[in-house]
Amino acid sequence: MIGLNIEKTFGFIAKEKVASYEADVKAAQEALENGTGKGNDFLGWLHLPSSISRELLDDLKATAQTLRENCEAVVVAGIGGSYLGARAVIEALSNSFAWLQEKKNGPVILFAGHNIGEDYLYELTEYLKGKKFGIINISKSGTTTETALAFRLLREQCERQCGKDMARKVIVAITDAKKGAARVTADKEGYKSFIIPDNVGGRFSVLTPVGLLPIAVAGFDIDKLVAGAVAMEKACGMDVPFAENPAALYAATRNELYRNGKKIEILVNFNPKLHYVSEWWKQLYGESEGKEHKGIFPAAVDFSTDLHSMGQWIQEGERTIYETVISVEKVNHSLTVPADAENLDGLNFLAGKHVDEVNKMAELGTQLAHVDGGVPNMRITIPALNEESIGGLLYFFEKACGISGYLLGVNPFNQPGVEAYKKNMFALLNKPGYEEESKAIRARL
Ligand code: PA5
Repeated sequence: MIGLNIEKTFGFIAKEKVASYEADVKAAQEALENGTGKGNDFLGWLHLPSSISRELLDDLKATAQTLRENCEAVVVAGIGGSYLGARAVIEALSNSFAWLQEKKNGPVILFAGHNIGEDYLYELTEYLKGKKFGIINISKSGTTTETALAFRLLREQCERQCGKDMARKVIVAITDAKKGAARVTADKEGYKSFIIPDNVGGRFSVLTPVGLLPIAVAGFDIDKLVAGAVAMEKACGMDVPFAENPAALYAATRNELYRNGKKIEILVNFNPKLHYVSEWWKQLYGESEGKEHKGIFPAAVDFSTDLHSMGQWIQEGERTIYETVISVEKVNHSLTVPADAENLDGLNFLAGKHVDEVNKMAELGTQLAHVDGGVPNMRITIPALNEESIGGLLYFFEKACGISGYLLGVNPFNQPGVEAYKKNMFALLNKPGYEEESKAIRARL
């Protein structure tokens, strides 16, 4: 189960102030439960863990098995909420060197549709040449340019390399039930497809087929992932008292820090496998709260790596930051530091210690140093990097995000700001229907 420790924020904000959020948090939770707050048509994620049907989970596992049996590689095409959740979980649970190993336990999972890099896409298509590969095309709107462009390239290559019949077997669409180009193509071509519920926005969709299918294809246990999320749904429920509810406490503490000038939250990990969990978290909080000229800026670092780059800034730069550390209690493997007769590196004081013991002392030492340097610190503890813990962590952040957005007074479930760049890009590319915008934007160049 996830633990949250906020003690090391209390030198910067008052404990009583955090406690005083209880009524507002309760109101935010009621608004979520009763659907009376802003963005209430996007609350499908709230009880998603406990309402996923066995039928859907079995269908996802069977589809994943088909892809695992028929593919050497599977490309997951998607961007934003249709990309980061799957990547976060897969990277957190995978062997860091799996893709280099000769004997693979299932297809290599690759990602596309989250950038428009010509070199990236060229190199991907080169890698896939002559390989049996499948595609999971994920787009709720079914019209996202980055994803559609990658899918067009990949689908053509897949059909050319393995024929239309096999392509039909290894291309899966995850999209809206009725609308969008991805739905039209899936229905016309007879691809296996899964639906993204209308009331679940992209960044809250990791526990729908959007996240679950790629995670299952990567060989991870989606039943356990969902079970971890269900446990957290209970632990963060409305009936759990404020002081014992981690989502409530996290939401309240970060809002109090923000009101006290801490405008930047840095999510910290001491395990490189969590890098993409931070990327997912950045989208969740950035897109949910950054509006109406308000919102904490979500940043992230990987320690120790970034202690040797961003560590200086965090220790002594502008005091507008606080840190939230994700601490993993137990490692999955055991490795001890060997003794060395010559001890030229002076490390014999560590001989016989587990590498994780050194890491944990780096973690503790960093926490104390940063607090001394004026950086409030919260600590989220998860038992281990496994499906249950990660499922729980994702749901915890989602629930806290909903509460936190309401405390901030914004609609945490829309993202009007992401349309501006699209309009300009379409105008610059002379997309039909954008003639007026094209003229106007060219006049500005
Ligand atoms: O959170 C969101 O809504 C966005 O990040 C979307 O997920 C992202 O823009 C991709 O959209 P779509 O799934 O429609 O292709």
